[in-house]
Parts: sequence; structure tokens; C-alpha cells
Amino acid sequence: MKDLLRTQDLSRDDIEMLLATATEFASNPLRSRDALAHKSVAIYMTKPSTRTRLASETAVAHLGGTPIFLRGDDLQLGRGETIADTARIISGYCDAMIVRTFAQSDVDELGAHASIPVINALTDVDHPTQLLADWLTIRENFGSDITGRKFVYLGDGNNMSHAWLIMGAIMGAHVVAATPEGSWSPDSKVIAQAQSIAAKTGGTVEVVHDPEVASRGASVLYTDVWMSMGDPEAERAAKMAALSPYAINGHLMGLAAKDSIFMHCLPAHRGEEVAADVIDGPRSVIWRQAFHRRTTIQAILYHASRGELKGN
Ligand code: CP
Ligand code: NVA
Repeated sequence: MKDLLRTQDLSRDDIEMLLATATEFASNPLRSRDALAHKSVAIYMTKPSTRTRLASETAVAHLGGTPIFLRGDDLQLGRGETIADTARIISGYCDAMIVRTFAQSDVDELGAHASIPVINALTDVDHPTQLLADWLTIRENFGSDITGRKFVYLGDGNNMSHAWLIMGAIMGAHVVAATPEGSWSPDSKVIAQAQSIAAKTGGTVEVVHDPEVASRGASVLYTDVWMSMGDPEAERAAKMAALSPYAINGHLMGLAAKDSIFMHCLPAHRGEEVAADVIDGPRSVIWRQAFHRRTTIQAILYHASRGELKGN
């Protein structure tokens, strides 16, 4: 597999390899300091980013390469040059491309026309690099044996909810998304796809609408912002009202397992999707999760640049 375009592209073996390598980068960031020596990685983003941009730039630096950051309006793409031509040009100068944008189809098209690895750094429907950091953090907390554990996402049925369900299914986990019915539930095609993956891996995928039922006995309560980048402002009030029962607070954490942890991909809005005493409390693992954005992106770059991702 050349690219990492979607969470579903990762095989269980790819994930295990990436988590093992990321663990090594966590304790020794410079252990492969020449892997990208004299090479460059283009990081193209048409949406804001704190973690993914910094994690990507520092990961490239730790591998001995040069990151080249490009905003949406830096390229001629904004003036009508095609995605295919852009992909070919960047392939001539760089050794990998990390892309954050709106349409998944744009990232797919870059991958199709680039000869170098293209890595999805978030689209409107997926966030594969985030999930590797999340599962490394989960593994550090609970080990490899996740029998009997329940991994619950609460809130908006957005890109993060999709990636959560698909990755959990690949890992053979019992994953749950608790979202409102209707507009803000996960895409039904993604749910079906996660269920079909889970049927092969021994996992279980559930989409429910009751936040208390979802939280009861959970090992992880995970949430994300309620207004994603690009969401229409006109929907804000209705969306906030629909999502308010899914806010993670002390009551929902109290229903979760005794050893449960709180996770959030960040950025967070305290008082909206999560209460301040939860995200800043003793069961929150958000800083370790954010730290692993760099270790896992470093592992993706390391293995993708060596052609070592197998895919499905
Ligand atoms: N979690 C995440 O992707 O953060 P950024 O938007 O800051 O990159
Ligand atoms: N769902 C959020 C994730 C941010 C990391 C967004 O797309 O804005």
C-alpha cells in the first residue's frame, strides 16, 4: 500500500507494526534520524491544525528530513491547476505528502496521481492518523487483551466517530458510538462497513442514542468538538441543543468502569462536549494522546517511505 488515505485501508498487521515502531520513537525520537535524510515531506493543509501540523513537522525533522508546510492558498491549486498536475509536481520534489482538507475525494485523487505516499491528515469523513495515537494510548492503559472492554465515543457523528468505529472494528474491539438520531449520527455506509469488518475480526460495532446506556461499564469515554471545521454556523444552536445530552461529565464518567479513561482528540471546548473537571481530571489521558500524534505520524512516515504498509 503506497498511501494512507482512509482508516479502513490499514490492516491489523499494519497497525501492530506502526504501534510497535511508535513505541520506540516515544522513548527514542532519534533512533531513525537518517531515514529521511536529504528528503522532503510536503504538508498541505486547507484547514487549521495545531497538533497534526506540529506532529508532522517534528516527525519529519526527527527522521532527518525537511518538512515543507503549504497552506491552501499557497499552491496554484487555488487558481485552477488540477489536483492531478499538483500531485505529479509534488512527487517530483518530495518523498511523501501529508494532506488535510475537506473532501475525501480530493485526497483520494492526490493519492491516485502521486508517485509518493499520500497520508490523510483529516478530511470531512475520516482522521486515520489520529486513531493510531488513540490506540497506542489505549494499549498503554489497558494492554493488548481487550476482552470484555467497551470503547465508547459520545457526541457528533462526524469524521472522528467514523474513524473510531472503523479502527475499533479492525482491532476486534467492542466499539460504540452514542450520537443523536438523524442529522448528527454517523454515516450509515460507514456503520455498515465497520460492522462488516467486525464480523471478520470478532469485534462488535454498536450505534446507540442513549448516552447513559453507552457509558455504563465503558473502559473509554471519547469525545470530539461539536462544531467541526467547515460545519455551517447556521446549524450551531440546533446542533448544540441536540448534542447536549452527550456531554461527558462526572455523571457519565461515574457510570463507566472503575479503571476507565477519558479521551479527546482535541481541540476541546470545556463546558460543551466535556466538563472541565473531567478533561482536567485524573482519568483524562489527553496529553499522552496528543504526544502520540508525533510518535505515530513518525512511524507512518518511516514505514510508508520504505513501502512497508501492506493494506487490506
Ligand atoms: N486532533 C487534531 O487533529 O488536532 P489538530 O486539528 O490541532 O491538528
Ligand atoms: N471533528 C473535528 C476534528 C478536529 C481534530 C474537525 O473536523 O474539526
